[in-house]
Amino acid sequence: MSDRQVPKWADFKPLLRVKPIEFNRTARQLAGALTISDLRAIARRRVPRGVFEYTDGAAESEISLRRARQLFRDVQFNPSVLRDVADADMTTLVLGRDASVPFAFAPTGYTRMMHHEGERAVVRVAERRGIPYALSTMGTTTIEDVALAAPDARKWFQLYVWTDRRVGEDLMTRAQAAGFEALILTVDVPVGASRLRELRNGFSLPPALTARTILETATHPAWWLNLLTTSPLTFALLTSSGGTLGEVADKLFDPSMTIVDLEWLRSFWHGPLIIKGIQTVDDARRVVDAGADAIVVSNHGGRQLDRAPVPLRLVPDVVDAVGDRTEVWVDSGIMTGGDIVAAIALGARATLVGRAYLYGLMAGGERGVDRAAELLTREVRRTMQLLGVSSIGELQPSHVQLP
Ligand SMILES: Cc1cc2nc3c(=O)[nH]c(=O)nc-3n(C[C@H](O)[C@H](O)[C@H](O)COP(=O)(O)O)c2cc1C
Repeated sequence: MSDRQVPKWADFKPLLRVKPIEFNRTARQLAGALTISDLRAIARRRVPRGVFEYTDGAAESEISLRRARQLFRDVQFNPSVLRDVADADMTTLVLGRDASVPFAFAPTGYTRMMHHEGERAVVRVAERRGIPYALSTMGTTTIEDVALAAPDARKWFQLYVWTDRRVGEDLMTRAQAAGFEALILTVDVPVGASRLRELRNGFSLPPALTARTILETATHPAWWLNLLTTSPLTFALLTSSGGTLGEVADKLFDPSMTIVDLEWLRSFWHGPLIIKGIQTVDDARRVVDAGADAIVVSNHGGRQLDRAPVPLRLVPDVVDAVGDRTEVWVDSGIMTGGDIVAAIALGARATLVGRAYLYGLMAGGERGVDRAAELLTREVRRTMQLLGVSSIGELQPSHVQLP
């Protein structure tokens, strides 16, 4: 039997770890968030239910989103050991220029609803961290204000094509004048989707004061105070009579658009053109033949067609078909840096992340977006090192096995 003794202060003292007290609740919560899923859990408590569901939700039975996330989880990594991974260089060439990490902030609509700092918060983080940022047509901050908020960020403008072509022409001219580097044309929204969580919550844009939302004022007073004491929450780039996003899309955007319209687009946009929402190898070939500089294999984060192809699954075939002529990017379902590494290993040049940074934004504004970017960046680096690679170029399909 071991001898026992009465513990003395001198025995305790070396074990004591007194951490400085963080009085700011947001900072404390963000520091405690170790994953994007943790940020999601904080976000859920921070914003009214309708706002969270709008962001978190997807179309119809949400099968597209679930399958996209599941395939990332099902990835098996094959590491190489005994390699020098003291440094892992995450730099990658995107549209011919260095990006500090292989991911960019995806275009997302109605961002100021998730947090009153909205697009400005996101683009400032993008600027500080060298991450490209895409402003949505459905944004809540103007092109010019986004440019002012982060003059040195790499900024891309995402376009939906209006039935009235002049609106798109005007937006492209403004984006070019404000120094936006590239245009992303989103092609998977010929019509609005059925997002059931939005419909069930009676969600509308702008948020309507109904009996339910007034009740929510009591549970989320800070969010409402910010909403009502900052500039009115409206679409910054379009005028709409309101409704769900699907209704707005159906009223304004042109479902008759075809590949021939890319010529029209090209005559107005003189920089790189990215086509977002490619979901078959054939379409990848068609848009590259028509002059796309990059394509995003994407199902819109599961927010458009339900039971759509899983983007990650398509990457190897699309890269085989057009990878020598264009950059192939991918998004939908990315929740960790490991997901990003898997996509790059399978041949994607870069990834977009949407909800991952929006959860951060809802959880804590600019600081929350920064935390999301920090977590993803750390995870990318650590996954590369554990795989035995020290640069993005060393990632190979053999590092990843898909079921
Ligand atoms: C709340 C929200 C709003 C979005 N709004 C747009 C948009 O206005 N234009 C667009 O091209 N894509 C939009 N997307 C899709 C994203 O650009 C991206 O394709 C998607 O979020 C990727 O999936 P992930 O959220 O799992 O990362 C939106 C996504 C979310 C979650």
